[in-house]
Amino acid sequence: MIWFQLGREYKLSVAEILAVFSYGKTVYLSNDFLILDNISIDEVLEKANNLWWTIKIVEIVDSSVAKEAEWYEWKFKYWISIFWDKKNLKSILVWIKKELKDLWVSSRFINKDFQNLSSAQILWEKLLKSQSDYNIIYNKNNSYFWKTIWIQDIFNYSKRDYEKDRDMQTGMLPPKLCQMMINISGWTTIYDPFVWLGTVLIESILMWNESVYGTDLNEKMVEHTKNNIINFCKKEDIELENFEIIKLNAKFIEESEFFKKWVDSIVTEWYLWEVMTQNNISLDRIDKQKKSLLELYDRFFEWLKKIKYSWNLVICFPFWEMKWKYIYFTEVYDLLKKYCNIESLYPADYTEIQATKAWSLLYKRDKQLVWREIFKLTIK
Ligand SMILES: C[S@@+](CC[C@H](N)C(=O)[O-])C[C@H]1O[C@@H](n2cnc3c(N)ncnc32)[C@H](O)[C@@H]1O
Repeated sequence: MIWFQLGREYKLSVAEILAVFSYGKTVYLSNDFLILDNISIDEVLEKANNLWWTIKIVEIVDSSVAKEAEWYEWKFKYWISIFWDKKNLKSILVWIKKELKDLWVSSRFINKDFQNLSSAQILWEKLLKSQSDYNIIYNKNNSYFWKTIWIQDIFNYSKRDYEKDRDMQTGMLPPKLCQMMINISGWTTIYDPFVWLGTVLIESILMWNESVYGTDLNEKMVEHTKNNIINFCKKEDIELENFEIIKLNAKFIEESEFFKKWVDSIVTEWYLWEVMTQNNISLDRIDKQKKSLLELYDRFFEWLKKIKYSWNLVICFPFWEMKWKYIYFTEVYDLLKKYCNIESLYPADYTEIQATKAWSLLYKRDKQLVWREIFKLTIK
C-alpha cells in the first residue's frame, strides 16, 4: 500500500494522482491523504516527479528496512510526523528517544516545538537519503508506521519560477497547476494558444514531451517564450523534436497549420489577465471581462467543432470573489454545453470525492480576487 500526502488543494491532488496511477485502488481518502493499493513502489518512484500536488509519498515499513535505517549514522537523526491525533506527537517523540537510549543508541529528533516537519525541512536535513523520515498514521482502531520514499523537491520548483525570462507580473499560471493540468490531459503533444511566458510548455517538456506548440497575440510574448524554452532546454540538455511558437490571435486559430496536423492536447488558460483589487473590482468590470472573453471562446470552440478536434482540452476559466461572494463564469457553462462534453476529473464511479456541480475543480490563492476553474473537455 502506498500513502500520498496531499497538497493544500486536495481535490486537485487526488485528480492528479488518479490520472497518473489509474490502476490504483483507493483504500482510504481524507483531506490530508490518499492510500492506494494495486500499485508498485517502482512505478510510483518512476512517475512521482510528475506529481506536483503531492507533498510526500510513503510506504508501509517492513522491519528489516527499519533496522537498516536505525544504524545509518552513529547518531541516529530522525523525525516523525503524525496524522489525525497531532497532539500526541510530543509524548511519542519523548518515548522513542527514551527507548533508543535504553538500547544505547544516541539519537536526535529534529521536530521543532514537537510539530510535524515541512518538505523543505526534510530536504534540508537530507532525511530522505538516510531513510529516517517516519510517519505515524492513526485511525480510531490502528496506528501505522510508514517510511517516506519520495518528497516533493520544492527548491527546484521555486528556482524554475525565478529563472524565467519575463517581466514580473501577477497572473502567471503556477507551474504546479500546469503540471496537474498536463497530467489530466494525458500529456502528449501540447498546444497552448495563450502561451504568454511558456509556462505550460516548459512544464510539459519537463514531463518528457518532445514536441510543444504555442501561439500568442503579443509578439513580445512569442519572443519571451521562445527564449525561455531555448534557455531551458540548453540548461537541461534537452533536444526537442518539434517546437514552434508563432504570433496568432486565438480568434483566427484556423490559420494555424501546425495545430491542425500534430497537436493532440490543448492545455491552456484562456484568460486575458486583468488584475482586480478590492478598490476597483465591480460587477460592471467583471461583466465587461466576461463579454470579451465569451466572444473569443465562442469562436475558438466553434472552430474546434468544425475541424472535428477529437483530443482533450484542459482549460482554466476565471471566477471572481467580490465582497466575500463568488461570481462564477456561468455563461461559460452554457457555451460548454453547446460545444463540449465535460469530462469527469475522477475515474468513472469514483464516489470518494466530488468535483463541483459543473464537474470542474477550483484553484484559489489567498489574497487574490480572480481565481481559476479547471475543466477537462472534449468537443461534441
Ligand atoms: C494571463 S496570460 C495566460 C497565462 C499563461 N497561459 C501562463 O502560462 O501563465 C494571457 C496571454 O494571452 C494573450 N492573449 C490575449 N488575447 C489573445 C488572443 N486573442 N489571442 C491569443 N493570445 C491572446 C496575452 O498576450 C497573454 O500573453
